[in-house]
Amino acid sequence: MIDTEVRRSQRKPPTNTAPWALDKLPPFPMVASRLMQLLAKEDPDISEVGRMISAEPVFATRVLQMANSPLFALTAQVKTLSHAIVVLGLARVKSITVTRALGDFVAPALSVRSLRVCWQNSLAGALLAEKLARACKMDADVAYVAGLLRDIGRLALLVKYPDSYANLLAVSGEHAFDLLSTERELFDVDHCQAGEWLMGRMPFPPELTEVVAHHHDTPTDNTFRMVHLIRTADRMADALGFAVVAQADPLQFGQVLQDLPEAALARFHYEEEDLKAEIDMRIQTWG
Ligand SMILES: [Fe+2]
Repeated sequence: MIDTEVRRSQRKPPTNTAPWALDKLPPFPMVASRLMQLLAKEDPDISEVGRMISAEPVFATRVLQMANSPLFALTAQVKTLSHAIVVLGLARVKSITVTRALGDFVAPALSVRSLRVCWQNSLAGALLAEKLARACKMDADVAYVAGLLRDIGRLALLVKYPDSYANLLAVSGEHAFDLLSTERELFDVDHCQAGEWLMGRMPFPPELTEVVAHHHDTPTDNTFRMVHLIRTADRMADALGFAVVAQADPLQFGQVLQDLPEAALARFHYEEEDLKAEIDMRIQTWG
């Protein structure tokens, strides 16, 4: 049985107010929120970005450690933040900062194995989105951030209700329940709706909000936008074994490749086992 304790004392909110399930959500790290606001500007002041990160030595050290880890597979080691900004560019620094900030946000829940799998699924989707974007000739840094943030609603729910969400995952896996429906049953919102609400309160472009809100929707036209690329990355993560719950009839890698436009498919030269091994190695470095 799904733990329904959470629901008993709660009522569905009126429109435009926070979904009750997200009420009093632990905040994102302050430095990360301020950085996001700065980096969201059209032409951010690079020296201000460096100053802001350097003013938070613990965060700065952790950002640098992660920048140099296999997760980001950089070709050169970065020693200081100003060096990182010059060598990597602001877009890459933004990807690294968002990963660090989101990782810090979910860290308290990661001692639970099934919740750690959710975080690994987010990282796998981000890394795959980056690779798919190169094949699709789309912006790889935007794709990475979109892939990472696509399930921000799920991460928020599992941070707020780790026991209930772990229970939800166990029950959904055992009975092959649809995860989105089960989330709505328990929390009155699914992780796409929860994520859309959260994204509306953060300084990200509307394109990313569309990804978060619609990354599980079946495409209804022939365009291939960022939301479709992220849906493909999400499905590919599942097909490669990074699904948050085991599926009775799992997606096949070859089946997911058919999501790609023909020209992009011709440019995507990865063997399934090699890709799985690379993604696995990179996300395991998170610890
Ligand atoms: Fe999702």
